[in-house]
This record gives sequence, structure tokens and C-alpha cells, in this order.
Amino acid sequence: MVKINENYQKLQKSYLFSTIAKKVEEYQKKQPEAKIIKMGIGDVTLPIPTVVTEAIKKAAEEMAHKETFRGYGPEQGYDFLREKIMQEDYKKRGIDIQMDEIFVSDGAKCDTANFQELFSEDNIIAITDPVYPVYIDTNVMAGRTGKFLEGKYEKVVYMPLTEKNHFIPQLPKEKVDIIYLCFPNNPTGTVLNKEELKKWVDYAIQNESIILYDAAYEAFIEEENIPHSIYEIEGAKQVAVEFKSFSKTAGFTGIRCAYTVVPKEIKYDLNNMWNRRQSTKFNGTSYIVQRAAEATYSEEGKKQIQKNIAYYKENAKIILNELKKANLQAYGGINSPYIWMKCPNHMKSWDFFDLLLEKANVVGTPGVGFGPSGEGYFRLTAFNTKENTQEAMKRIQEIFK
Ligand code: MLT
Repeated sequence: MVKINENYQKLQKSYLFSTIAKKVEEYQKKQPEAKIIKMGIGDVTLPIPTVVTEAIKKAAEEMAHKETFRGYGPEQGYDFLREKIMQEDYKKRGIDIQMDEIFVSDGAKCDTANFQELFSEDNIIAITDPVYPVYIDTNVMAGRTGKFLEGKYEKVVYMPLTEKNHFIPQLPKEKVDIIYLCFPNNPTGTVLNKEELKKWVDYAIQNESIILYDAAYEAFIEEENIPHSIYEIEGAKQVAVEFKSFSKTAGFTGIRCAYTVVPKEIKYDLNNMWNRRQSTKFNGTSYIVQRAAEATYSEEGKKQIQKNIAYYKENAKIILNELKKANLQAYGGINSPYIWMKCPNHMKSWDFFDLLLEKANVVGTPGVGFGPSGEGYFRLTAFNTKENTQEAMKRIQEIFK
């Protein structure tokens, strides 16, 4: 008889963003006239830069000719893209990362989800609370978390991000093995400066831990002294794996391209292990997509991408300002496309979600969906159009004025 992976029984009923999508769909069916504005999942809305679509067309055309056709590519990514990543994202920042430390993939979600496979089941994991649910759910599936009791998994170390600690995670008192950090943070939109991040690198060195550092929102950083890569911190190459994505940076949520950096200096032979894992389970990101990603590094590509990011950042400003005018408390949104607002009148996250959906036809993400410390909070994204963002704020203000 087949035995299923019982760990799946320990998961919440459905993935956070699927639950929200279903709720919204049901509401829309009941209220077909409602003009719903979606500020829930962090999905981009601006079209991808034309320099990227041109690269896609050119690469597709190459596939139509015998001389330039390509089949399977290298599982780690084509050199033309890895070279650009190495130069533009690292060498230009004074960081020495080699090409064989860069692994191109089809998304940071899959990479952050899959990387835990390299570690045994009895490692202690530490996550911020709230957290991007992928980190925790994949560890649940792998049997590393124990049971879900009173809103928490029993074997996981939760590091609360609260107003009290200014959304800066405190070093765990106990010894932990694998630490997930995401900065600029999803969901709170807040950041760690270099001194704060250094504490984590030092902790990992002292305790022989590994940091899995998700820098998917790095392109939104505008303030000084905020690290764009964990490798800006001395010693990080010994202890940290870094995940980066073209999704939010260049509008690739539908195209799919990301990369993971696994330094050779890092302990436990992780670079070789990840290489072995990827070459066994992954057949590479498509040639066409990698040419698209390469185009984001051209002068024109960079210009177009910056314009799109500036557009979203303007939306974030609108959200922060308008919430303030309505006397609603909000955080993040400066170095990030996410705004983390406090639900008014001590409302719970899901109650606020229902209220906004029904009274304002605005969708956001309930904070508690990201972890118990997210209860009473709500996440809005700046990824909608300016017009929709303004309209959503007007509707919210009408409820709370
Ligand atoms: C989010 O809304 O948290 C992200 O868009 C989810 C993701 O990147 O997978």
C-alpha cells in the first residue's frame, strides 16, 4: 500500500495566496458589478520593457533556424547571463562572486523552496514572524517543523517582527541551524542596515549556521547603508546563500527567471550539492528567457526597468501618504513595494480583509497569513496602476474618515 507524506497533513488548508484568490473569485461571482482593485499578491502590472521583448523575439527567431537552434542548455544557466550577473550585480558593487557560484533558475520561489532539501531533517530552522509562507511550508513538507500547535510549528524558532522591535529580528537565544532572512522584507516592507545584518552573519559564523538570504526586492532599495546583497557583509560568503529574482526587478513574474548564489567558500560543500541537485532535478531555464534576462542589463534595459520601479515606488508613496491622512498606521513602502499597515480599531487581519473587500472592493493580504505576529496587520502592494492605487486609497479613506 502506498504511504503518503504525512507531513502534508500538518500544512494549513491551502497556500495563502490561493485562499485569497478563491475568496475574491467567490465574492466577484456574488457581486459581478464590483470593480475590485487587487493589492494582494505582489504581482507586477506594467508591461515588460521593450528591450526585453525584442530580445525574446530575436531568441525565438534563432530557434527557427538549424544553425542557431538550441536544445537543452546548461542546468546552471548560460554563461552569457551568468557573466552579466557576476559583473553587474556583484563585481560593480565590489563583491567577488564567480560564475560557477551562480545558478540561474525559473524563480526564487522554487529556489527558496528547494534549497532546504540539502539539509537533514533534524536541523532547527529559524524564520521571521511574519514570513513569506514558502519558507515555512516547504520545511513542513520536509518534516522539519513538528506539529502546528496554537498558531505555530512546535520545532521552529520564530523571530517576531513587531512595532516594538522596529521590525528588526532579534538573534535567537537558542542555537539554530538554518536561518531564513528576507530583506527588504516580505511582508513588512522594512529593511536591515549593514550593522544589523552583520550581527546575523557573525551569529552564523559563531554557531555554524547557514543563512538563506532572499533579496528578491533589492531593486527597491533607495536609502543609504542598506545592503543590496548579503555579500556586502564581511564573512557572509562562508555562511550565506543568496536568492535573487528578475520578477519584481524587471517584471518577470510571468516570464520566470531568477538566480541563486552558492559561494564555494560556504561550508558543507553546498555549492557542489546544489549543482548536483539542479543537474539532477532541473533542466535549465529556457534559452529565450535567459536572453530576456540578459537584456535587462543593457543600458536601455536598465533605464526602462528603473522607470518601472520608480512608478511602483510612487504608488508606495501614495499609499503611505493617504493611509496617514486617514490616521492609519503603516510601515515599509520606502525601500520596498510592500506596505504593512495596522488594522484599525484592533481588528483582526481576516476581518479587515473581509471589510475591505466588501466595503471598498479592495484586496490586500491579511498579516496573520504570514505568521502569528502578523495578526492585526494587513499588507498592501504598490504593484497596481497609479489610477487604481489612488482609487483604492480614496475608497479606504471613505470608510475610515
Ligand atoms: C508575494 O505577494 O508575497 C509574492 O508575490 C509571492 C511570490 O513572490 O511568490
